[in-house]
Formats: sequence, C-alpha cells, structure tokens
Amino acid sequence: MGSKLSVKKAVFPVAGLGTRFLPATKAIPKEMLPVVDKPLIQYAVEEALSAGIEEIIFVTGRKKEALEDHFDRSCELEHTLMARNKDTLLRELDSLVPESGTIIYTRQGEPLGLGHAIWCSRHAVGDEPFAILLADDLVKTDQPVLGKMLAKFEEVQSSIVAVEEIDPVQTDKYGILDVENTGTDLLRIKGMVEKPSPDQAPSNLAIIGRYILTPEIYTQLSRKERGAGGEIQITDAMARLLQEQPIYGYRFKGRRFDCGSKAGFQMANLAYALDRPEIKKDLLPFIAEYLQQSKPGS
Ligand code: UTP
Repeated sequence: MGSKLSVKKAVFPVAGLGTRFLPATKAIPKEMLPVVDKPLIQYAVEEALSAGIEEIIFVTGRKKEALEDHFDRSCELEHTLMARNKDTLLRELDSLVPESGTIIYTRQGEPLGLGHAIWCSRHAVGDEPFAILLADDLVKTDQPVLGKMLAKFEEVQSSIVAVEEIDPVQTDKYGILDVENTGTDLLRIKGMVEKPSPDQAPSNLAIIGRYILTPEIYTQLSRKERGAGGEIQITDAMARLLQEQPIYGYRFKGRRFDCGSKAGFQMANLAYALDRPEIKKDLLPFIAEYLQQSKPGS
C-alpha cells in the first residue's frame, strides 16, 4: 500500500440563492447570517482550521463581496478599535483573517445545485482528497465534526460523509443512506438516494453537511446529470462513486442545527446565546416571561 494521504483543502459552497431567507438574503449570502454575533460561515471556517485544514476554497456566486471582506483586514476598523483600546475585539478580528494566500475564491456561474458547486472547485482542489463543509449545518459539540472525520480518514483512506438519524417523515429533505452495519460510529454505505419520500427511503440516516471525498468524485460530477429538483446533486455523484470505491458514514456526536431553515436558525441562535452568561442573564428571564404572557387566556 502507498503512503497515507492527508486532507489539507476544504471547499465551502456558498453560491446557493438562500431563497428560504429572503428578503434577508437579497444582498448578502445566507452563510453571512449571524448566529449570535458570528456569521455561519465563520463557524464552519473555524471548524476546518481547527481540524488542520490549510487551504480554504470558497465557491461563491453573486454577492460575494461581504464574504471576501469578512475574511480580510479592515484597516479603518482596526485603527478605530486601537484608538478606543478595544484590544480583545482587535485580537478577535485579527484571528479570523487567515494567512494571505490561503483562501481561494472560485465562482459558480449559475446555481445549478450543490454537486455543480463542488465541481466548480476541481482546479483549486486538484488530485487529492478534500473536505466539504456546508455552513448552514451548524453542529454544537466539544469535538468538532470535521476533526473527528479527518481522524477516521487517516484510518480508512476512503471517502466519509457525516450522518445523523432524522425523523423518518423528513427523508425528502436529505440524502439518505442504505448501510451494511449499524451500531458503530463508522458505517459502510451500500447505497444512497437524494430526497426520497418516506415510503421509498432505505433508512432514516441522513447525510449532513460535512464530507471528505476522494478526487475521483470530480469524474462523476463532470457528467453533470440532473437529479432531484432538477439540480446536479452531490449524492447522485457519490452513489456512482460507490460502485468503484468504498464510502463510509460517520455518526457524529453533538447537536446539529439546520440553519438553512428558519426554525433551525432561530434554535441555533437561542442555543448559542444561552451559552453566553452575559446574554443568558437577560434572555432566560425574558423567555420565561414571554411564554407566560403568550399562554392562551393570559
Ligand atoms: P441549499 O440546499 O440549502 O440551497 O444549499 P440554497 O439555495 O442555499 O437555499 P434555499 O433552499 O434556496 O433557501 C446547501 C449549500 O449548498 C450551497 C449553498 O450555498 C449552501 O451552502 N449551494 C447550493 C451552492 O453553492 N450552489 C448551488 O447551486 C446550490
């Protein structure tokens, strides 16, 4: 067996239209919406960097400026914070700017689907395994999911996707797996299907927005076949890749928030806000009082 491959590059597809969040997403990407005081994309980038990722590849669409500016220096802001002795904030802002030359932006001309967005990263990634993070899947955990998946990748040297058991009536919102084994955290996948109706779904194990894929996925994506919703789906390309090489599902620990949905996004804000003592002290009494007041008859 050849030498072990490691994963140094992560792709962040951020070119979706974010229609569920209109009008908020008319002029800014959905991934720039904040959970408490950090944009979704920053949580994802921090997760990748903490896992040892060295190169960040954004697949953007229109409205990319806010994203680019977020991960760049802001001299004017830095001067003002310095003049006001806001050292902690200054350090925080400084730490979110990755080293020059480690971010690549490529563009998806048209939002033809997640699979197509990933295909757009092919030249930036080249011939090596890479990670994909969807910022709207936010996982609250002490053990960042991508870091755990990269450790598994070191062992199996095969593609891995994050999976979670979902409510069986929701299978038509996810890529759903058919697996050989259950009961461990690493599942050998037999098949997968995008957005099956609950009566057609092989299980209730759903693919969540963290992937480690081998570069052979690009060959599959280059077929540009349209799938569910008329979009080019990554799940369909992975299902074909599965005919050639193993793919594993990784059951992660932690609470996932679907920040692509309005309810999930609000839940994430609440959970992350309650983690912050300075916010919690005002928020908890407010929630209790508000719920009391909105009880029917009161
Ligand atoms: P979603 O399926 O949540 O789609 O994309 P969306 O278009 O962003 O949002 P809605 O459904 O209209 O509200 C999952 C991820 O894939 C990216 C999105 O930016 C998001 O991070 N994506 C999706 C692309 O980059 N390009 C696409 O063509 C589709």
